[in-house]
Amino acid sequence: MKRISIAIDGPSGSGKSTAAKNLAKILNIEYIDTGAMYRAAALKALQENVPVDNDKITAMLDNTEIDFSNGSILLDGIDVGDSIRTLEVSSMASRISALPGCRKKLVDIQRLIASKKSVVMDGRDIGTHVLPDADYKFYITAPLETRAKRRWLEIGERDGVTLDEVRRDLAERDKLDTTRALDPLVKADDAIEISTDKHGIYETAELLRSYIK
Ligand code: DC
Repeated sequence: MKRISIAIDGPSGSGKSTAAKNLAKILNIEYIDTGAMYRAAALKALQENVPVDNDKITAMLDNTEIDFSNGSILLDGIDVGDSIRTLEVSSMASRISALPGCRKKLVDIQRLIASKKSVVMDGRDIGTHVLPDADYKFYITAPLETRAKRRWLEIGERDGVTLDEVRRDLAERDKLDTTRALDPLVKADDAIEISTDKHGIYETAELLRSYIK
């Protein structure tokens, strides 16, 4: 079978990861969560007290292994699980993802993975920058209020945060992700836009599937 690549971009909490994961399962190809890669790098920076500085983060990443195994993200060979899903890590991931050295390192790994196998890859800049020649591109979105409620249901109880805090965090991350100088979150001209507000996140994978020939 021909190797295919499917790029899925969109803001935090849009349901793109659930849709991407389910689509990969339906198509029986690999799902690559690039946000998890930035989160893993952020976790290490927090653990090792590395400041948000291009040279320091780049040097840290020179000595870091970030990889996937059976859909799980491995940081220096260890499955980091849900420890990358806290608000603290989210915020750090957003900040370090604006650093050119950090982006270059992670984009190189992402392109290498996609050059070897068929992938559904989700993130912010997949269709515009990482895989501009992807066979299919989707832009998944939903209103801020819907995204905040979803995220809060996911992490609120576990982390003891309020809906208000989650909404503020998402709005702040939207701003950072869409206004950063390097590869900001933007819909690729040739991406198909889908709002999960109308479709619900579980139907979305089937909808995406219907576009794949
Ligand atoms: O999708 P996510 O919330 O797990 O992503 C975490 C952070 O990583 C997010 O603030 C933006 C950044 N990111 C990025 O800059 N480029 C990507 N391809 C994926 C994520």
